[in-house]
Amino acid sequence: MLAGRKILLIIGGGIAAYKSLDLIRRLRERGASVVPVLTKGGAEFVTPLSVAALAGEKLYRDLFDLGDEAEMGHIQLSRAADLVVVAPATADLMGKMANGQANDLATTLLMATDKRVLIAPAMNVRMWEHAATQRNAKTLKKDGILFVGPDKGDMACGEYGPGRMAEPLAIVAAVEDALLNGPLKGRHVLVTSGPTHEPIDPVRYIANRSSGAQGSAIATALVALGAKVTFVTGPARADMPLGCTIVPVETADEMLEAVQNALPADAAVFAAAVADWKVTSASDKKIKKTKGAKLPVLEFAENPDILHAVSNMGKDRPKLVVGFAAETDDVLDNASAKRKRKGCDWIVANDVSPETGIMGGTENDVTLIMQDGAENWPRMNKSAVGQKLADKIAMSLGQDK
Ligand code: CTP
Repeated sequence: MLAGRKILLIIGGGIAAYKSLDLIRRLRERGASVVPVLTKGGAEFVTPLSVAALAGEKLYRDLFDLGDEAEMGHIQLSRAADLVVVAPATADLMGKMANGQANDLATTLLMATDKRVLIAPAMNVRMWEHAATQRNAKTLKKDGILFVGPDKGDMACGEYGPGRMAEPLAIVAAVEDALLNGPLKGRHVLVTSGPTHEPIDPVRYIANRSSGAQGSAIATALVALGAKVTFVTGPARADMPLGCTIVPVETADEMLEAVQNALPADAAVFAAAVADWKVTSASDKKIKKTKGAKLPVLEFAENPDILHAVSNMGKDRPKLVVGFAAETDDVLDNASAKRKRKGCDWIVANDVSPETGIMGGTENDVTLIMQDGAENWPRMNKSAVGQKLADKIAMSLGQDK
């Protein structure tokens, strides 16, 4: 199933473009959303109206459409997807891809994307067998581009041989393979996210400003790389990530219990903003305002430190434990000290001072602190931070296979 997966589909100019209409339908049947890009050549074979109607999404066509750029720039468009599919991939498109040309929207997206690209070549048999196409195919494979087809058979031009675009269902299978057999296939990753709520009485609680957006983005990116993700979340405002096992909790105590139940895991990412204290004097009845009575006094007790507990557990400790350090002063020094104090492997440090707009915002500006050094990432949206972190986790777990 492809529930929640986003496919950017580039439709090149070939007679096989008619099969891409069916491909859109098949991908959507399996729960994927399809954002279509129609090249100039593609529009000679299928109409923009049919493509947009079947996709149920905005159709992108021209690189220099200022309206589109203002709404969603081509860089963002190329990265918002989980996978880029080119079907049909003509000899011309393959040539441009192999040589790094970017002179229209499709080729610019292909150059700008940070996602895997799957192509379904379609062309006349002589064109497919031509030394230039074969050279380009070899280059593209070396660059990590995934291929499906071409098939052998009767061609629209009356010739016979390899060059026919793979059937839509074969392309769907290749999409599933690319998305579900990512580098984290077979790995279990635990992610905590969101704030915790610590009750004062049955109707009041202490909380914090975490939206859960960064945790959701990390979980989404891990799922896209094929991981099985358990997402333990406090009451968050952000959308829940798709394709995860979601365990909703409220308090830090409940979060610790859910984390312990979810282990073992290969890696654990603690993105939750856990309350440091809980109210020991929490009342099981609503505290009433009584005239002349003393103001209520709250007593606090320390919450369990979940990150510290998991980092220091014996045999079930995940191979990679990643914490977050939300700081307002001396960010790097405090975060480095926190990494050692908690016993985690990596810590993602960020400055959450109100003027940064990070807490509750859409962007993040982080430094990843590891045992052997630190990486400062430029300010980017939280999805991009999630993807970068997921890639790093995949690389790290891949090394100790
Ligand atoms: N964390 C946790 N359990 C807690 C408190 C924090 O698992 N009870 C985790 C957070 O999910 C985060 C990391 O620890 O990954 C650091 O959280 P932070 O609030 O910055 O650190 P604190 O331990 O609260 O340290 P301080 O209050 O001194 O900044």
